[in-house]
Amino acid sequence: MKESLSFELIKKDSRTGARRGRITTPHGTIETPVFMPVGTQATVKAMKPEDVEKTGAEIILGNTYHLYLRPGEDIVREAGGLHKFMNWHRPILTDSGGFQVFSLGKFRKITEEGAKFKSYIDGSSHMMTPESSIEVQTALGSDIMMAFDECVAYPAEKKYVERSLERTTRWLKRCDDHHKRLETKAAMESGSDTMKQALFGIMQGGMFKDLREISAKQITEIDLPGYAIGGLSVGEPKEIMLDILDDCVDLLPEDKPRYLMGVGTPDYLFESVERGVDMFDCVLPTRLARHGMAMTSRGKINIKNAVFARDFSTLDPDCDCYCCRNYSRAYLRHLFKNDEILCSMLLSEHNIHFLVNMMKNIRKAIEEDRFLEYKRKFYNKYGEF
Ligand code: GUN
Ligand code: ZN
Repeated sequence: MKESLSFELIKKDSRTGARRGRITTPHGTIETPVFMPVGTQATVKAMKPEDVEKTGAEIILGNTYHLYLRPGEDIVREAGGLHKFMNWHRPILTDSGGFQVFSLGKFRKITEEGAKFKSYIDGSSHMMTPESSIEVQTALGSDIMMAFDECVAYPAEKKYVERSLERTTRWLKRCDDHHKRLETKAAMESGSDTMKQALFGIMQGGMFKDLREISAKQITEIDLPGYAIGGLSVGEPKEIMLDILDDCVDLLPEDKPRYLMGVGTPDYLFESVERGVDMFDCVLPTRLARHGMAMTSRGKINIKNAVFARDFSTLDPDCDCYCCRNYSRAYLRHLFKNDEILCSMLLSEHNIHFLVNMMKNIRKAIEEDRFLEYKRKFYNKYGEF
């Protein structure tokens, strides 16, 4: 069967690993490098899908773990899939539940079969396996589904990380087998020879370079349309993260998209693009927004600050989002102080627009072979990260 997803490498920066590409999915194309806003509960918090689209975002992320627990994948399937359920008709990537389940700490237990965990909603017991994660993601109908993996905390014993990455590889095989089984069955029913969804594998290996190499070798032996780097940005110092990332990128095939999971501050985005990463996701822009924080071209702003009480200028003079075109800092501060929902809505739209637009500028800079110049200019203006 033909893969549902393809990747085209359009241009490579002459001085760094940065690259400009295009991913084609059943719900449209994605220009890379790309930032993917997170819509955990089938919604990018505080934003209508049409407003997410207006920021220029081309793909959003959904979460298997949350949607499995509530409303349940059967309800999403009955609704006609996640795209229709939430009224977002561009590409969707779903995370497998691996990361969310493993973040539960003492509320979960890992075995070869899968992960047993307690629901954050009512404390009930559940088991997620590579097969059941694929089943749920199939019901959701995402364009890209992620393999069920174990994201190891930092710091961790090398022996544990090694055993864990080997298991993640075995789980990846089980995900791939199950995905193929389901796609073959669906193809027989519909008479199509193209798959509906793409599966990405996830590299683990913690902060150990030799283990990263083993993981990369094992997962790329399975031919998949894309690969992710997991287990980074889990509390390690920035130097360690970038040092490991340097190695990870080179271990992945050049002709497939590379996705760094859970990364989204401007400096990490620049550093990772420079090393050759194509895809990113992070809850940061929307989470910051709900706490009254704005990301601007001149650095982060805390809208609660008293200095903005009479500041009638726009949030970011360089931004042309709906918020910046129509509202002042003083008004946003007033909204925040009164717990008005509109503050979260406006700041979320601005923050997503900011990152999406930054990636757009990065893409243009790569096309014109001036990535490093753009990076320097951005850093100079932004100041402290
Ligand atoms: N999100 C951030 N890091 C990870 C990871 O290592 N695995 C998965 N599945 N999701 C993530
Ligand atoms: Zn704005």
